[in-house]
Amino acid sequence: MGIKDIKYLLIHSYKLQQTDEKKALFLLNSKIKTMALQIEKSAKTKIHDVDFDNLKFGQIFTDHMFECDFENGAWGTPKIRPYQPIAFEPSAKVFHYGQAVFEGMKAYKDDEDTIWLFRPDQNQERINKSAERLDMPAFPKELFFEGLNELIKLDAAWVQKGSDASLYIRPFVIATENCVSASSSNKYKFMIICSPVQAYYQGEVRVVFADKYSRAADGGVGFAKAAGNYAGSFYPAKLAAKEGYQQVVWTDAATHEYLEEAGTMNVFFRVGDKLLTAPTSDRILDGVTRKSIIELAKDKGIEVEVRPVSVTEIVEAAEKGELLEMFGAGTAAVISVISGFSNRGKSYELPQLDDSYAAFIKKSITDIQRNKAEDKFGCRYKVQ
Ligand SMILES: Cc1ncc(COP(=O)(O)O)c(C=O)c1O
Repeated sequence: MGIKDIKYLLIHSYKLQQTDEKKALFLLNSKIKTMALQIEKSAKTKIHDVDFDNLKFGQIFTDHMFECDFENGAWGTPKIRPYQPIAFEPSAKVFHYGQAVFEGMKAYKDDEDTIWLFRPDQNQERINKSAERLDMPAFPKELFFEGLNELIKLDAAWVQKGSDASLYIRPFVIATENCVSASSSNKYKFMIICSPVQAYYQGEVRVVFADKYSRAADGGVGFAKAAGNYAGSFYPAKLAAKEGYQQVVWTDAATHEYLEEAGTMNVFFRVGDKLLTAPTSDRILDGVTRKSIIELAKDKGIEVEVRPVSVTEIVEAAEKGELLEMFGAGTAAVISVISGFSNRGKSYELPQLDDSYAAFIKKSITDIQRNKAEDKFGCRYKVQ
């Protein structure tokens, strides 16, 4: 939203005459003053206490955090403060009704110390789509990018160089109104926190196709990055882990016949030379990595079919030796190779390939992310 739009909104929302320019400008100035980002720098950095070679994913946080509160129908003053605990009353709605959405993105530092983000516009749009589904207010795009840029610049030393290092960025919104009645909150907090990470090593990934539990249903919130989607997946994931499987591949809730997504990843199947993946729907998260893989694979001449993928065809392909690869795609790991799967109690192994699509695609995407390859699709965003 530009100055002109704000002026237009002010004239309309305060029911001013079009000619009452002076008053509009006064209101505009006061609005801009409250909107200016306030920055309180941390007196001391914690970075020297961090062992960057032994990071566990998402456990260490940088020196600063970004926050902005929504009250009386508007977002207030955006702030960057030293990373610290935040206090809420026990009655805050997020604790009771789970009105919470989040995002996950990464920053990379190249050899010249320039910091890059990968398609952050997609995360910005997606958090607002998620928020809308949970009846939460959209967070303005300009504030999102201003907060993100300033925060990363302040914590730039935390974005480490190296082929596996990155800064994981977690924007999120929570309902903060103190009230235990089951309805939308009228107060929210938007925040961004950052965590330095190394390679997302999961070890071997074997998956089980869901035939009892479901993650999402038609008309539900599966497409949103809503906190509750994850909470609901932990118990089935624990049961799968007891059987030796690291992830559950969710199937459609109605028939358990169509393969949808896994944990925090979309899923791809290579049958022969073709790459298959499920179309997005209101049950599936529209992953940035998935989208990028589809574009990149097509560009490299790989045939990609985006269509419902059935359990039956994947099992048959595995039995005929035509299922060559399966992999998950998401921001955290980029690509997680799946070495085997279980369906209704029967397990299947996948071959180990020297020239896998997974390795080729992972290298192509990480080279773009880290400014080592041409950015044909305009995915890189420079932090400045
Ligand atoms: C449920 C789910 N599916 C897929 C993905 C992959 O999305 P992206 O590539 O945008 O990280 C994620 C991670 O954000 C996820 O949580």
